Amino acid sequence: MPRFLSAKPDARLIPLPWNTPLEHWPLEHLVALPRGISRHVVRFIKVGEEIYAAKEVVEHSAIAEYRLLHDLKRLQTPAVEPVGVVTGRVAEDGQALDPVLITRHLQFSLPYRSLFSVGVRPDTVTRLLDAMVVLLAKLHLVGFLWGDVSLSNTLFRRDAGEFAAYLVDAETGELHETLSDGQREHDLEIARVNLFGEFSDLEAGGMLDTALDPATLVETIETRYQELWSELTEPEEFDDSQLSRIEGRVRRLNALGFDVAELDITTDIDGTTIRIQPKVVDAGHHSRRLLRLTGLDTEENQARRLLNDLDTYSARTGQQNMDEAVVAHQWLTHSFEPVIEAVPESLRSKLEPAQVFHEVLEYRWYRSEEAGREIPLVEAAHMYVNDVLHNLPDEAVSSENLELIPDQGHRRLQNPYDPGQGFADEQEMPIDDPWEADAEAPPQTLGFADIAALRAKAGKKF
Ligand SMILES: Nc1ncnc2c1ncn2[C@@H]1O[C@H](COP(=O)(O)OP(=O)(O)OP(=O)(O)O)[C@@H](O)[C@H]1O
Ligand SMILES: [Mg+2]
Repeated sequence: MPRFLSAKPDARLIPLPWNTPLEHWPLEHLVALPRGISRHVVRFIKVGEEIYAAKEVVEHSAIAEYRLLHDLKRLQTPAVEPVGVVTGRVAEDGQALDPVLITRHLQFSLPYRSLFSVGVRPDTVTRLLDAMVVLLAKLHLVGFLWGDVSLSNTLFRRDAGEFAAYLVDAETGELHETLSDGQREHDLEIARVNLFGEFSDLEAGGMLDTALDPATLVETIETRYQELWSELTEPEEFDDSQLSRIEGRVRRLNALGFDVAELDITTDIDGTTIRIQPKVVDAGHHSRRLLRLTGLDTEENQARRLLNDLDTYSARTGQQNMDEAVVAHQWLTHSFEPVIEAVPESLRSKLEPAQVFHEVLEYRWYRSEEAGREIPLVEAAHMYVNDVLHNLPDEAVSSENLELIPDQGHRRLQNPYDPGQGFADEQEMPIDDPWEADAEAPPQTLGFADIAALRAKAGKKF
């Protein structure tokens, strides 16, 4: 009899055919969604409206990964959410089967191959790498040694103009009190090797822009990671005439999306030299604030964008001195909700609400410049729905659009339930992704994790 190990069991999972190897499961329980290539058998299973990822893996790995994913959830680190492990599986012929690790499918997530198969601009690649670097730093801050850093073990979600990265495969991970420099270097070395391989594969498949080369991309990760890590953790010394540098450091960390929970400040005996060092930093500076004010649970850059719009709203309505929570509630009902309501039910699975709002703001800015007048928000939302949203690929899963999803980019998979088997047609398809269309794109700013740019602003803003 199969046994379930789970903190929050979903009873609908119990009657599934656990005594059949995952590979041979009847299609009625499966959904075909884009995913990365894996060594193990991985399938997406559907019970009611819920979608889970199931991975067949040896017992000690399944249980270790389940526990680690739990730890990561407790530490509020972006990773897929564990649901349970099914052990004690026995096939009809009496053969013991490997356990299955079940995680909740990460909604609106994109494996990197789905992104690349439709073609991505070089600066999008930088954004993906930035997201990956931020994920690695977040994991390292909580003492998590990943051990298998790679693009296929990462999932990406759109986060305003950036991406947010999530860990998907914790099989090789270890959780420590803190990590030594050597341990962090070990993860970086693995990242270099794996990402070099993955980018070389994309290059060989004609999926990497010719302006980019795998070796340089891998170097970027290294430098960006080192810069971010020193910003997050390194001490800084200055004399007592430069006290504003304390605030400057905190502001830079906030701009990177981190809150400083503990800043260690020491002075030398005569008080002329001051030394500061962040001791505890927590990710999610903007998303926590937005959640507190509005109840909206979003990615970090989406939150940053929405908060900016909230500030603009309070300035326009002359309410800067009002209670922030009161203005936030007004903004929610007068700005955010009407925009989301402008999206017809049938298009709701295209993008998350916070992403829709961000895109409407961008779209409105662009169209208003063009028209030489300010287009009202709700009018812009309707125009955006007609002009842009209709043409976007579906990114969420809903029962109505399931049959569209096996199509990765514009290519048909041999077996939609197992992307590891490759494409049915091997000919190259034209690159055509509305996400990547230059025409609609507003002017791009520097990546949010660009620390050199943040430092350069030091004299002006920070
Ligand atoms: N919860 C989930 N939500 C969305 N996608 C998922 C989820 N779990 C797994 N996947 C997809 O399945 C793929 C394979 O999963 P995973 O990396 O855990 O398998 P693996 O066999 O251990 O991989 P590896 O070959 O790296 O050992 C991932 O790249 C991801 O695209
Ligand atoms: Mg993997």
